Amino acid sequence: MSSKKILVTGALGQIGTDLTEALVHRWGESQVITTDLKPQKINSSIIHKTLDVLDFQALRQIVEEHGITEIYHLAAALSAKGEQVPQWAWELNMKSLLNVLEISKVYGVRVFWPSSMAAFGPFSTIQPATQQSVMDPTTVYGISKLAGESWCAWYHRSHGIDVRSLRLPGLISWKTPPGGGTTDYAVDIFHAAVTLRPYTCFLSPNTRLPMMYMPDAIRAILELMEASSSSLTVRYSYNLTAMSFTPEELAEEIKKRIPSLSIRYEPDFRQTIADSWPREIEDSTAQKDWGWKSHYNLSSLVDEMIKGIKSIY
Ligand code: NAD
Ligand code: SER
Repeated sequence: MSSKKILVTGALGQIGTDLTEALVHRWGESQVITTDLKPQKINSSIIHKTLDVLDFQALRQIVEEHGITEIYHLAAALSAKGEQVPQWAWELNMKSLLNVLEISKVYGVRVFWPSSMAAFGPFSTIQPATQQSVMDPTTVYGISKLAGESWCAWYHRSHGIDVRSLRLPGLISWKTPPGGGTTDYAVDIFHAAVTLRPYTCFLSPNTRLPMMYMPDAIRAILELMEASSSSLTVRYSYNLTAMSFTPEELAEEIKKRIPSLSIRYEPDFRQTIADSWPREIEDSTAQKDWGWKSHYNLSSLVDEMIKGIKSIY
């Protein structure tokens, strides 16, 4: 049996739902403990603790009691909610990460923490955004991701913490709804299409953003966490990419399968956020260091999303 003991924070969110399933499949149910502000899902036999990750002592106690060796720290505020409630987002994103890193320093825990393409900003949009592009985020969320990346690198450099991170693009999945980001339209549109409802998109038709189907992101997280430490040259956060598309291109691809989809565009405050992010990202450093390669393109993503969403209605 593996001596790994894994703790997932924010485990009931969009990534946490799929990641927990993959971790249980990879390491076994008894090796994984999920935590979230929310109580456990019905019918789950995984150990789940209701935990506010801002509560340092409560987090420390779980790590000590269960002999945790790895933390996947997912609890955070996303970009759109972050602009609406900035102080809450900054406090949650920064304090929780520092809690995780401090506790990991004491208990020798390996950490996965997701950054985002949102850590880039308007001056990074010389395309594609490279690993070393200028970083000038303009949102509270993006600022917290860039600061978080620097904290990860600092804890690795100053305390030897084995912390690993990815700059994730917008993630598209069907098991759990997204939690208040700017790329949420690319999930919502599928629910509208499958249930034959018209869809009103909050971004303009030509807003191109980097995106990824969730199984690729989950595989990237697992591969990064299993890579040999000596092969990793980046301890702030790796660029990661799969595809880029616009709402119009996504709608056209869905219409090839569901011709009745009707879409109109009413851009709101999230348009400004999207306009500050890169259209394309390149990830050659991740490819070179730990062999990253995405599997899904726009066509296979649309096939899988329609199949997945149909299975839940
Ligand atoms: P989500 O909003 O779907 O889930 C976050 C979870 O954290 C929720 O279940 C929520 O209940 C929980 N939570 C909130 N406050 C908490 C607290 N104080 N204590 C404990 N739990 C708390 O988010 P997600 O999409 O799963 O994102 C997870 C991480 O990945 C975040 O850091 C996010 O920035 C990053 N990320 C996500 C995407 C994406 O497209 N989903 C892209 C890039 C980066
Ligand atoms: N999907 C995320 C968001 O839109 C990107 O990090 O906030």
